[in-house]
Amino acid sequence: MNDDNDNQFHRNILVTGGAGFIGSHVVRLFVRKYPRYRIVNLDKLTYAGNLANLADAENAPNYVFERADICDFERVREIFAAYAIDGVIHLAAESHVDRSIKDPFAFARTNVAGTLSLLQAARERWEGDFAGKLFYHISTDEVYGALGLGEGLFTEETRYAPHSPYSASKASSDHFVRAFHDTYGLPTLITNCSNNYGPNQFPEKLIPLCISLIRQGKPLPVYGTGENVRDWLYVEDHARAIDLVFHRGKAGETYNIGGFNERRNIDLVKTLCATADRLLGKPAGTSEKLITFVRDRAGHDLRYAIDATKIRHELGWTPAVSFDEGIEKTIRWYLDNQQWLDDILSGNYRDYYEKTYSGR
Ligand code: NAD
Ligand code: TYD
Repeated sequence: MNDDNDNQFHRNILVTGGAGFIGSHVVRLFVRKYPRYRIVNLDKLTYAGNLANLADAENAPNYVFERADICDFERVREIFAAYAIDGVIHLAAESHVDRSIKDPFAFARTNVAGTLSLLQAARERWEGDFAGKLFYHISTDEVYGALGLGEGLFTEETRYAPHSPYSASKASSDHFVRAFHDTYGLPTLITNCSNNYGPNQFPEKLIPLCISLIRQGKPLPVYGTGENVRDWLYVEDHARAIDLVFHRGKAGETYNIGGFNERRNIDLVKTLCATADRLLGKPAGTSEKLITFVRDRAGHDLRYAIDATKIRHELGWTPAVSFDEGIEKTIRWYLDNQQWLDDILSGNYRDYYEKTYSGR
């Protein structure tokens, strides 16, 4: 760890979960855009953490990687002190609903106890001087529960009603963040975002899973009847929103982030098939034949859809990447980065840390 005797950095920002999907886009954006910020990426490197996502940031003078578990309170405190952390963008989490159904304890540990450990470290470090400090939690629209088809949109006022162990753990962590704001005056912010897609997403989530399976010519598992609706946002648009909220959001507030981009799963998978066939030069209809309806997810939420009016009006954010453009960019990225996918499928991506950081 560095000690913090130098003043070359204007801010020292802790990004948790920076080796994951969204976190890697946030780290790369901040490292590139803010050379006077030191970006400290704290990540445990669970199965979902992949340092290859950060290859182009890893030698930047304003980037530091710390392999640590957010639940390890002593270690978190040390990192806050060692880098004089004054801002937190907290993304580290267990993030996959299907895994939460199989192992809810892991979700309570990381998402609830881990968030609490970060909050407590921030409070201890900043108490008495909250000026210029910010604890920003990246959360999900799934905390609001499920909407019926055509039943309106989630707003910041929608009552929390999580259904899955994942969304229950994220709702709980949101409540702890607000409790630290209301009880101790910790400057906090929360954003609740809809489903993201794009480069670097672990191939357990619907879009990268299907791209990976299309490439292998294997069945594409669509849960239930494929009628469930999600609101999709290109990950770089989310990273831009995070940048904006971090700098211009009002402490104590919540902002919903979404793409105004609802798709039924079955229609989404058909779009993926058609676009992939075109890009791969396969006859139209080839990949669609791989669609296979499988047993539904337990407690499968029917529809999520975000009203992102507040962030548009108050901070001027709107998504820049259309759905068709984003899907094509995403498929192209996975096809151009087959090694990234193959390293995950073979497990080789797990060696990256030892190869890159041992002896440093
Ligand atoms: P991800 O699963 O791709 O990455 C999670 C990262 O957190 C990984 O790098 C992992 O190693 C790290 N991590 C997990 N447990 C840790 C621990 N105990 N200590 C330190 N690091 C740990 O997740 P993602 O899809 O990038 O999501 C990031 C955040 O955004 C999560 O908080 C998630 O709830 C939220 N979110 C995700 C979406 C989405 O569509 N993916 C939408 C809205 C909100
Ligand atoms: P997912 O990518 O797991 O995100 P979330 O559950 O957080 O929305 O799933 C997106 C949608 O796709 C969801 O309705 C479940 C569905 N789904 C499938 O139909 N098949 C699959 O193999 C997966 C992983 C998801």
